Amino acid sequence: MPLRKPLVIVTRKLPDVVETRMMELFDSHLSADDQPMTREELVSAVQQADVLVPTVTDRIDAELIAQASPRLKLIASFGTGTDHIDLAAARGKGITITNTPGVLTEDTADMTMALILATTRRLVEGERLVRRGKWQGWGPTLMLGHRLGGKRLGIVGMGRIGQAVAKRARGFGLSIHYHNRRRVPEAVEQELEATYWESLDQLLARMDVISVNCPHTPATYHLLSARRLKLLRPQCTLVNTSRGEVIDEEALTRMLVAHEIAGAGLDVFEREPAINPKLLKLDNVVLLPHMGSATLEGRIDMGEKVIINIKTFADGHRPPDRVLEGML
Ligand code: 8YV
Repeated sequence: MPLRKPLVIVTRKLPDVVETRMMELFDSHLSADDQPMTREELVSAVQQADVLVPTVTDRIDAELIAQASPRLKLIASFGTGTDHIDLAAARGKGITITNTPGVLTEDTADMTMALILATTRRLVEGERLVRRGKWQGWGPTLMLGHRLGGKRLGIVGMGRIGQAVAKRARGFGLSIHYHNRRRVPEAVEQELEATYWESLDQLLARMDVISVNCPHTPATYHLLSARRLKLLRPQCTLVNTSRGEVIDEEALTRMLVAHEIAGAGLDVFEREPAINPKLLKLDNVVLLPHMGSATLEGRIDMGEKVIINIKTFADGHRPPDRVLEGML
């Protein structure tokens, strides 16, 4: 890294306080219009910058990395997931990758809980009824949902966010079940009174609510495949605040249309921002625009992490949130 301030190109608009600090510390090129960069703009960015700050909306694939100038030494992603970055290609080119873990755990878990409640208690359907002027007054069988207390929640991916979801869900009287590549420490299992299922298939077949909280990696692409989705019980509700690619969305949509599962709460999609038009017509789904971690506080904390990663790297130290392929 040169002695002068590093040239940092930020692909999207970040909160003012973050951008201002970046201007103070680095030779920062900020996004004026918050439009996702075109491919040409991204190519130009990796050819000029010492540091690139992308988000989930930028595809940092091997082809792009191959075009990067040797001066690009750090990609400090604004976000936790790194599935939009080809980590192996970056390593091959000697580019360090960092992310922003930890600071969006609680916000994402809150949104997961909100989606679980919204789907099982038909929150958005009820709101639509009122707004459309179709509500004709209280009725004993009007808008009946299902009670969460006493039901089983299956968490797929018991990392930071999965555990934060479990903590909240216990407060709603749900019993906690989980599947994870590795069993979590016994103390965590005990605290959450969580039951571990080594077999994802067996877990899926027995839950009332499934929450997807694992990262998207080559190993988790379509982890909830058409075959696995068929294992869900008809009364099961599926919630995803992780990545659309973890679920076979086409298969899920078919099942929702056929009422083979009760409902779904989706914050993420396979081809964001494109949404399968069939999903838009369904009442038994709640669809959100990838806003799981969207709080001002969370975005500022993420920005702070990005700044710390760049600053430590520029000062010649190992940045705290370095991402290596083997970690995922
Ligand atoms: C972020 C996310 O806001 O951090 C993640 O992995 O999915 C989002 O909540 C987004 O990725 C920002 O790049």
